[in-house]
Amino acid sequence: MATRIDGKAIAAALRGEIAAEVAQLKEKGVAPGLAVILVGEDPASCTYVRNKQKACEEAGIHAEQINLPADTTQEQLLAVVEELNHRSDIHGILCQLPLPRHLDDEAVIAAISPAKDVDAFHAENVGHIMIGDIRFLPCTPAGVMELLHRSDISVEGKQCVVIGRSNIVGKPMAMLLLHENATVTICHSRTKNLAEVCRGADILVAAVGRAKFVTADMVKPGATVIDVGINRDENGKLCGDVDFDAVEPIAGAITPVPGGVGPMTIALLLKNTLTAAKQQNGLA
Ligand code: GUN
Repeated sequence: MATRIDGKAIAAALRGEIAAEVAQLKEKGVAPGLAVILVGEDPASCTYVRNKQKACEEAGIHAEQINLPADTTQEQLLAVVEELNHRSDIHGILCQLPLPRHLDDEAVIAAISPAKDVDAFHAENVGHIMIGDIRFLPCTPAGVMELLHRSDISVEGKQCVVIGRSNIVGKPMAMLLLHENATVTICHSRTKNLAEVCRGADILVAAVGRAKFVTADMVKPGATVIDVGINRDENGKLCGDVDFDAVEPIAGAITPVPGGVGPMTIALLLKNTLTAAKQQNGLA
């Protein structure tokens, strides 16, 4: 039976460390500030944004939520970003994705000042991640690395398989694993013999966005299984990309959903906001 990696507890510990650093920074006269832009009222996005806001407040970070109507134009959204780029009390800017269909995600990401891009989605920051000169950590992948580190699971020399090639998770996940000397395979919808490739993994990271996609036959006995997915199952219950009940008896370690990777993503966002505030005040 696998050890459960308790993301909720690990994230709480990390948030505590960040809160202590925020308090120290405030003593130096710098109060970190994050602006979170939400366009429209997608229920999942509303929940994520609320959780981010709450975590900021608990860590002593000023969080400003900017709610824009679903029919906001591209020009209006870009004007909001531009204003935030110039505000000295706002160190981090996050625009919750996905945006309504008429808006251009890429253009909005490109408009955020790279110095304030706490999601690390801007091409400049993606480039820094690629070459290993990291300014802002990609939140979800860095959250996964933190879970592994704090569970004493080394990736060096291991076979790591990432399922999913998104810009938000799959690609930066592969880079962080590679920087720590893992042998990395990225799988996707066109991968042949997916189950066989996954069975070769010492560490399997599922970031597909499909409920219970990873089944027991895809997991090597004793492997570490990290579930990045947040889906609803056939009964509307929250579940990951991994068929947890079937995989738990086989894996060596596994993250649950909820309570695994999710809380870590938010903790890393706080860490990036702290980093941004330090960098913009010559303290990093
Ligand atoms: N939508 C889903 N995950 C994320 C994230 O990490 N950042 C932003 N901005 N939007 C998201």
